[in-house]
Amino acid sequence: MLRIAVCVSGGGTNLEAIFKNIENGTIENAGIVRVISNNKNAYALTRADDHNTEGICISPKDFETRDEFNEALLRGLKEADPDLVVLAGFLVNVPECVIREFKNRIINIHPSLIPSFCGKGYYGLKVHEAVLARGVKVTGATVHFVDEGIDTGKILAQKAVSVMDGDTPEVLQRRVMEQAEWIILPDIISKIASGEIKIG
Ligand code: GRF
Repeated sequence: MLRIAVCVSGGGTNLEAIFKNIENGTIENAGIVRVISNNKNAYALTRADDHNTEGICISPKDFETRDEFNEALLRGLKEADPDLVVLAGFLVNVPECVIREFKNRIINIHPSLIPSFCGKGYYGLKVHEAVLARGVKVTGATVHFVDEGIDTGKILAQKAVSVMDGDTPEVLQRRVMEQAEWIILPDIISKIASGEIKIG
């Protein structure tokens, strides 16, 4: 079984999509062994509980220094002994020590078609605000490996979504989630669990 640890910060809709696809058999031979949030109030932790999965909070606010947080995050992941780490709406820059420990075994979902609207400062609603401000007619989502950069790892999947007249950032975010994120992230996890995509 592919052991998956999922890092979250907010609502957890991508986490929910992974749970749903595991539970309905779309993703075979995989299981979420731990959910880690940097935000103790993240609804994603409630979702983990609802799916009888261990959810823990490791917050920078609980540590004197960033290095201590980084080490705690690494420990929290290693304890779960995952084969794959999934960043699903995780708003923390992944520390070097984690990248090294889980080289080529961390994937991220980004709510745009990389290389557009990505990198430092592009996260959550800010991505969709920039998409609307630029006036592009097509956006979407990307699943990529996580490396030392921000949104710079090898692209594994992308799915395009139309921008509609009158879209607000919130409406566009929801469409990108429904029509792209919640489809391509489980699909890539399924391909990793089946061995079609190699990790490590
Ligand atoms: C999503 O737009 C995701 O692409 C981004 O964070 C947002 C919240 O995701 N990384 P979730 O509902 O917490 O999964």
